[in-house]
Amino acid sequence: MNVGQTTKILPAGEAAVAAAARCLAEGGLVAFPTETVYGLGADATNAAAIARLYEAKGRPSFNPLIAHVRDLRAAERIACFDQNAIALASAFWPGPLTLVLAKTNDCPVADLATAGLETIAIRVPAHPLAREILRAFGGPVVAPSANLSGHVSPTTAAHVQSDLAGRIDLIVDGGAVEVGVESTIVGCFEVPMLLRPGGVPRGEIERVLGRTLAQPPDDPNGDSGQPLAPGMLASHYAPRTRVRLDAERIESGEALLAFGSGAVQGIDAATAVMNLSARGDLAEAAANLFGYLRALDAGGARAIAVMPVPHHGLGEAINDRLRRAAVGRE
Ligand code: TXA
Ligand code: MG
Repeated sequence: MNVGQTTKILPAGEAAVAAAARCLAEGGLVAFPTETVYGLGADATNAAAIARLYEAKGRPSFNPLIAHVRDLRAAERIACFDQNAIALASAFWPGPLTLVLAKTNDCPVADLATAGLETIAIRVPAHPLAREILRAFGGPVVAPSANLSGHVSPTTAAHVQSDLAGRIDLIVDGGAVEVGVESTIVGCFEVPMLLRPGGVPRGEIERVLGRTLAQPPDDPNGDSGQPLAPGMLASHYAPRTRVRLDAERIESGEALLAFGSGAVQGIDAATAVMNLSARGDLAEAAANLFGYLRALDAGGARAIAVMPVPHHGLGEAINDRLRRAAVGRE
């Protein structure tokens, strides 16, 4: 795909599903909703399509992709499932959980998609449109979030359009997504490890495993060799506007990203106020997070001040994304 080509946008429906499957089979790039965020899909077995995908996103090519499949049977063709992996897949698939597992010997996924790693990240998405597209296409689909590399993840088709119009073939518009933060990533290593907090809270995973999840080493992207989860680059989710965390008062020229009903000093001076969840609901906050960050980023404020968000349940994923949004801009 050449930059400057027109990007088709189709509303959810049979015609869109058929067009998406056809486009994937021809090596094209299709953005579609999953329950977490919109993904940018390509045929996981087609190295040329994947190369175009990296190009469209402007993504560093060392960042491996998640293979999306329709069910556990399809997943077992590309990765080796141990007992922990089976337990997690049975409990959370389809849904916002990604498992990192050893590849099978005859794994059909192109090496470019796994950036040369021996492991592969897989998930079975729950969104009905994503599932229909996977069924119609019939093979594994790699799909990173459908944004330009480094931008916040898209939770509506309009977000995808503003980042990728002219760079991809098709956007399937299925409305706003439900979860709003990306999938939780668990490395099913000898000791299972939480590689990225996300749509399934840590506690639920630990309950199924009957043990606590290990933390990745402090600096997974350091000089120590292969990154464990290179997408954990410190500033992965950065808006252009500076982001200031744990704000208790508003400085002049700042916009406010609020949470709950607590008070903030100087709120009248805020250039804009958006509340992730006035009633303090973390699921609602996760669903609103990336859209509100985008909206406030576009408003031209001097900085985005963010109220503290509790760290339990989905709060761990929300705080992870907020911390990354703030890195390098303090
Ligand atoms: O919710 C989601 O997971 C969304 C939707 C579209 O499915 N996808 C998504 O993909 O967030 P992406 O590419 O933005 O993030 C994939 C993450 C990156 O942090 C990447 O480093 C990690 O998965 N990853 C992929 N393969 C890996 C592997 N073999 N080992 C460790 N981490 C891996
Ligand atoms: Mg992403």
